[in-house]
Amino acid sequence: MKFLTSGKVKDVYEVDNETLLFKFSNRVSAYDVKFKDEIPKKGEVLSKFAEFWFETLDIPNHFVETKSDTEIIVKKMQMLPIECVVRGYFYGSMVSRWKNGMISLHDGASSELAAKLSEPIFDPTTKSTHDIPVNREESISQNLVTSEEFDWLSQKSIEIYNKMANISEKAGFILADLKLEFGKLDGKITLGDSIGPDEYRLWPIDSYEVGKIQEAYDKQLLRDWLTANGYQKQFNETRQRGEEPVAPSIPKEIIDKMTQRYTTAYERTTGKTL
Ligand SMILES: Nc1ncnc2c1ncn2[C@@H]1O[C@H](COP(=O)(O)OP(=O)(O)OP(=O)(O)O)[C@@H](O)[C@H]1O
Ligand SMILES: [Mg+2]
Repeated sequence: MKFLTSGKVKDVYEVDNETLLFKFSNRVSAYDVKFKDEIPKKGEVLSKFAEFWFETLDIPNHFVETKSDTEIIVKKMQMLPIECVVRGYFYGSMVSRWKNGMISLHDGASSELAAKLSEPIFDPTTKSTHDIPVNREESISQNLVTSEEFDWLSQKSIEIYNKMANISEKAGFILADLKLEFGKLDGKITLGDSIGPDEYRLWPIDSYEVGKIQEAYDKQLLRDWLTANGYQKQFNETRQRGEEPVAPSIPKEIIDKMTQRYTTAYERTTGKTL
């Protein structure tokens, strides 16, 4: 099996001309810093989440089979050069773009941080290292996709978001936003990549409050610990000096609690046990 690439979390191998293997690791990063410690079970949760969503969403996708607790096999595709982002809440990079007049909200929609949008919006980006937002005109003029493809992707992505948001809500979570990738398989647009907590923001409904920063359920413990111990500040200062921050080691109790969170998110959302 030929190794192809290694992302923040998964490693991709070529099985043969038609198929790829995704291996999900236990790697973790926060504030753009990669940690040496791993989160046990994280890779298993991401792999099983991918399997669950590909089987649950009623849309053609590249999933073939689960190979092991942390590996899935998918059909190799020609990926479309666009990341299909759907936003259901006013949050993340959308906020500064709205402040700079680069994006508008529907009439009557609240511009309070983390407010629910009056309806989910399709807000795609390029697939370059720095994901640059592109609107319909730009996507077409930059030859990323055709106008027909853009409209199909927009409609399907929002449809998928709505379905996933419903399932997440029943499990006690708000699906704030989502990133999907599509490719072409035998000339047909097909859902690809992976779908799990690394592709979306999950907020517990219980602690949701408009106007506040909402912490992602899976990363919150680590970010809180880093902030409380001065590491977030230290990372920023190090970067300002033009140096790369060094990751501290994560205390065992934080690691254990994170494993618990990944497991809980999976079990509550899917109704399955790990
Ligand atoms: N079925 C598929 N066929 C071919 N390529 C695919 C398929 N599904 C996903 N890909 C591509 O494989 C690559 C997987 O890389 P991966 O997501 O692990 O890392 P990355 O995108 O480089 O970094 P990050 O960790 O930030 O996501 C992506 O470029 C994705 O578009
Ligand atoms: Mg990726």
